[in-house]
Amino acid sequence: GLPSRVRIHEVGPRDGLQNESAVVPAEVKAEFIHRLADAGLSTVEATSFVHPKWVPQLADAEELYPRLADLTGVRLPVLVPNERGLDRALALGARDVAVFASATESFAKANLNRTVDESLAMFEPVVARARDAGARVRGYLSMCFGDPWEGPVPPAQVVRVCRALTDLGCDELSLGDTIGVATPGQVAGLLTALGAEGIGPERLAVHFHDTYGQALANTFAALQHGVSTVDASAGGLGGCPFAKSATGNLATEDLVWMLHGLGIETGADLGRLTATSVWMAERLGRPSPSRTVRALSHK
Ligand code: HMG
Ligand code: MG
Repeated sequence: GLPSRVRIHEVGPRDGLQNESAVVPAEVKAEFIHRLADAGLSTVEATSFVHPKWVPQLADAEELYPRLADLTGVRLPVLVPNERGLDRALALGARDVAVFASATESFAKANLNRTVDESLAMFEPVVARARDAGARVRGYLSMCFGDPWEGPVPPAQVVRVCRALTDLGCDELSLGDTIGVATPGQVAGLLTALGAEGIGPERLAVHFHDTYGQALANTFAALQHGVSTVDASAGGLGGCPFAKSATGNLATEDLVWMLHGLGIETGADLGRLTATSVWMAERLGRPSPSRTVRALSHK
């Protein structure tokens, strides 16, 4: 059956804003995150400690993170690709970090300037030191279904990198459909293949971009396989600057509409979420692509 409760891992401030051509001021980002927390989201991915030239949109992480100090009941994960990133995050008191691997060589090169195995070697001390410092570590895996350069990605290739991230000590793995091409049968197939390797749904999250409008259907397939952590982005913001054809994530509002309709608890307040996405859309100068945001804000 379906889970009775889903933990939403909100990625709008990170995955969403990393892809905006306009750089959003730190104070607006801080207000965005506070509003998302006020809307009942318990996990809000705040920013990335990556090279500022690679992602200028998030170069203000040192300015932003201290503005979130009052959000003590909320988990505020941050992306850290390497030890330099981890040092920056730990210096600010971060307690939730994420490394981000790729199932394909092409995206590992584009996103991290490394081969898949070189990036895993880069993450090894990051995960070990983060855990020693008492932080929880999420391992993202991109291009789990299709890759813009390589086409369809064989599940065995994904399983291999999931196994490696698990062996490094990641507490949770997030399976990314970075360019939003997956369909539900592929999701079921990958979750079955991972289960056969001893990687069960309790330590998995799903991360769907909505390029082909499949993100909700894919999420439903994952729920049927026992996954109960779902990544989503308020208003459907998002994409990836290093993967052509990536669009926004599954919109948090669309996810909440479906989950509440199914009687699944999330703790989220849909009215507050929608108001936040409308507010953010005004700041970004274009409407939210979320169908639910549009429906509720035009009432
Ligand atoms: P590189 O150029 O190979 O870096 O980039 P390097 O290790 O050779 O270091 C070069 C210089 O960068 C050094 O400075 C380092 O100190 C500095 P120098 O000695 O020359 O003066 N440096 C840093 N500075 C600040 N913070 C750091 C840092 N690291 C090195 N952390 C690197 C390698 C990994 C740094 C680069 O490729 C990078 O920053 N990549 C980040 C890409 C990124 O953020 N992508 C988006 C997130 S992933 C995503 O969106 C997918 C996801 O949503 C899931 C899905 O949808 O699939 C998660
Ligand atoms: Mg993403």
